[in-house]
Amino acid sequence: MKVLILGSGGREHALAWAVARSPRVTEVVCAPGNGGMAKMARCLPVNVDSLDSMIQLAEAERPDLTIVGPEVPLSLGIVDELQARGLRAFGPTRAAAMLESSKGFAKRFLQRHKIPTANYAICNNQAEVEKAIDIFHAPIVVKADGLAAGKGVIMCPSRATAIEAAEGLFSGKLLGTVERQVLIEEFLEGDEVSFLCLSDGKHVTPLVPSQDHKRIGEGDTGPNTGGMGVYSTDALLDPAMREWILRHIAEPTVRGMAEEDTPFVGVLYCGLMMTARGPQVLEFNARFGDPETQAILVRLESDLVEALEACIDGRLADTALRWRQGASACVVASSGGYPGSYKKGLPITGLEAAAQLPETVIFHAGTALVDGQTVTSGGRVLGVTATADSLEEALARAYKAIKEIHFEGMYFRHDIGHRALKKKS
Ligand code: AMP
Ligand code: GLY
Repeated sequence: MKVLILGSGGREHALAWAVARSPRVTEVVCAPGNGGMAKMARCLPVNVDSLDSMIQLAEAERPDLTIVGPEVPLSLGIVDELQARGLRAFGPTRAAAMLESSKGFAKRFLQRHKIPTANYAICNNQAEVEKAIDIFHAPIVVKADGLAAGKGVIMCPSRATAIEAAEGLFSGKLLGTVERQVLIEEFLEGDEVSFLCLSDGKHVTPLVPSQDHKRIGEGDTGPNTGGMGVYSTDALLDPAMREWILRHIAEPTVRGMAEEDTPFVGVLYCGLMMTARGPQVLEFNARFGDPETQAILVRLESDLVEALEACIDGRLADTALRWRQGASACVVASSGGYPGSYKKGLPITGLEAAAQLPETVIFHAGTALVDGQTVTSGGRVLGVTATADSLEEALARAYKAIKEIHFEGMYFRHDIGHRALKKKS
């Protein structure tokens, strides 16, 4: 069986790694892939922001299964296009991917189906923004409606900063694209949990929970990034809480989407805030998370391809997932300067030595293979990932491995997992 993976980040390397372990898979093709994927799979150029480019590639390759990594191709409708051509693809249709691609859609959906989420207002102009701010009081969260690669959410400590943020979104100054709608949301406090589930449109199977670290600086300070590290341990949610989230958030979402004739098949990523009044949905993503996927898939003992096919075929209820007990941790090594500007093309050393450590996998994100040498090519460069019987050991393994690796300006956070470790002590 030939599997095509669309995307080029750490998430896609982890998907390729997990897919390659399936006894049913004879060939993995990645498009466009990265330096790590180039070492294990055939990589082909593609523009994942262009439906035509992806369709051309899929028509030429005719894979038995296509797995879509990033949100942009899903929001463009790549799954609809592939299915219309008789090609099996894992991921939601364009209509179902609206849960991620329009925050306004997601919020209205949550409200319609009485699923817990922060209070909000959808504003079409600055006057509506000011009215909404008066209702919620500061601190306030201001959000762009559409996809913004993590840059569309602005935390505002005061009324004045919220007004300025909304102005920036409406004018196009903040994101470079003009937002027609802006969301104003009440600020929620608590720990965040990434609750990812597989869905076949009817049934929901949760993956193991994880916690991302979005800020660049230690102690969760500084600007947001794509994610600087993540860990996964079942202890993040006790069984009763896990069940509550399933019954009150994930299942009603999948049921609601089916009732509205946009069944959701794919990964439903519920970004949750664990507040004093219970878990609240911060956002939905319609895909695997990055870097959550790296920490989740190293714990998956079942065949990923079987599970994804069960989603496509509507037989997820008959498919149980087995997991490595214990924990996993993924520490992201980023380019100096990220999330601002940074250098590219810097040689990376120590990858082989790091990968030889026990239960350690080095997932590549922003890397390229140039004449046999792995070099940096993006902001988040590597996801150094390890499993162990405890979170402490998994973190120790990941940090031991990252110390073997070097490139000029390399940066990583030394405190991944700090919230969980603090709770234990
Ligand atoms: P989103 O893309 O909507 O998940 O927002 C990105 C990040 O912003 C989340 O992971 C949270 O850390 C933060 N965030 C979003 N909405 C809120 C909120 N209502 N209250 C507090 N933090 C939020
Ligand atoms: N880790 C956050 C995301 O994948 O959107």
